[in-house]
Amino acid sequence: MSSYFKGKTLVISGGTKGIGKAIVYRFAKEGVNVAFTYNSNEEAAKEIADELESKYGVKVRYYPFNVLEPETYKELFEKIDEDFDRVDFFISNAMIYGRPVVGGYGKFMRLKPRGLNNIYTATVVAFVIGAQEAAKRMEKVGGGSIISMSSTGNITYIPNYAGHGTNKAAVEAMVRYAAVELGEKNIRVNAVSGGPIDTDALKAFVNYEEVKAKTEALSPLNRIGQPEDIAGACLFLCSDEASWVTAQTLIIDGGTTFNTN
Ligand SMILES: NC(=O)c1ccc[n+]([C@@H]2O[C@H](COP(=O)([O-])OP(=O)(O)OC[C@H]3O[C@@H](n4cnc5c(N)ncnc54)[C@H](OP(=O)(O)O)[C@@H]3O)[C@@H](O)[C@H]2O)c1
Repeated sequence: MSSYFKGKTLVISGGTKGIGKAIVYRFAKEGVNVAFTYNSNEEAAKEIADELESKYGVKVRYYPFNVLEPETYKELFEKIDEDFDRVDFFISNAMIYGRPVVGGYGKFMRLKPRGLNNIYTATVVAFVIGAQEAAKRMEKVGGGSIISMSSTGNITYIPNYAGHGTNKAAVEAMVRYAAVELGEKNIRVNAVSGGPIDTDALKAFVNYEEVKAKTEALSPLNRIGQPEDIAGACLFLCSDEASWVTAQTLIIDGGTTFNTN
């Protein structure tokens, strides 16, 4: 697989930890050069870039980016153009938590416009603007692969997750629209929908321990998901093994969604 990936470029939002970090590592291992963004964790970003450059001999650069300001994707991609000569893969991964999701993360009767709008901005608008910029570059190299991160909280009930779950449903629909219109440029667009994955974002859930125990119980594989489980799916979708896969949602949930017993 490596020869297909070698020398290509991945752009991904939120590469400092959790799922994004695992994706950055997985692609670098295949010889992919990586442009990733950070928000608060510049130090972690530097450590990741240094380690991957020395370990795999790839080029890795990191850039500040706030997913609540998706219009800044334009400047971000212009900076990436200065450092990289091509863009082949784009993964919309960064997600907000804490204060910006107040009124968006919670019970239905407590949902409020600002929190909901912030999640919409970070999930759907950021995907659209980032994918537009990426697609312009992919067109120049004859095609590419775009992925939005999603979650199974859009098809199964997760307490307090209405704001996120509905926006993940929306971004999956947006992925299908993008796929139809970008196909003629040989750009494939898909979503990867994860079941509960053991990251800081999940640990921020008020009922984290309960979610973890329940996931382990529901999964026929008897464990919660790890960031690497999602990274493998993304690598597949960006590979030429997935050359006729577009407008899909690939569910990576350890069998938890189907198993309600
Ligand atoms: N964990 C799960 O159970 C799960 C399941 C399915 C899908 N997902 C999805 O997978 C994606 C990644 O989730 P994760 O669990 O890996 O999260 P995570 O470990 O909390 O990482 C979040 C990433 O987003 C960045 N970020 C945070 N606030 C940001 C902002 N305002 N602007 C730009 N970047 C920001 C962080 O950067 P800094 O560290 O620099 O602040 C970090 O790199 C999300 O789209 C999430 O919805 C997660």
